[in-house]
Amino acid sequence: MPNWKHHVFVCTNKRPPGHPKGSCADRDCNAVRLALAEAIDANALFETVKLNTTDCLGPCRQGPTLVVYPENVWYAGLTPGDVAEIVQSHLIEGRPVARLILPE
Ligand code: FES
Repeated sequence: MPNWKHHVFVCTNKRPPGHPKGSCADRDCNAVRLALAEAIDANALFETVKLNTTDCLGPCRQGPTLVVYPENVWYAGLTPGDVAEIVQSHLIEGRPVARLILPE
């Protein structure tokens, strides 16, 4: 049984054009997912961080979104440029990035 320290789920949901909720795919979530995968590899985190894509997480209008467990920390409005800070601060140093956390 793997013993990951963090399990990261990135929403890659795509809805049809014109759907009122939009989707993370409309906001380039795949670029965020790819940047995360590359950063996990570059930092050799594959034994401590598990990355998965997922369907809709809920806050579609604030996408791209991801959630990190077991901390239950939700990030929103992400760009690929945010990924390095999440990886370094949260996934390596254990300090979630407050400026990127989904507002309640
Ligand atoms: S489509 Fe990504 S949170 Fe709903």
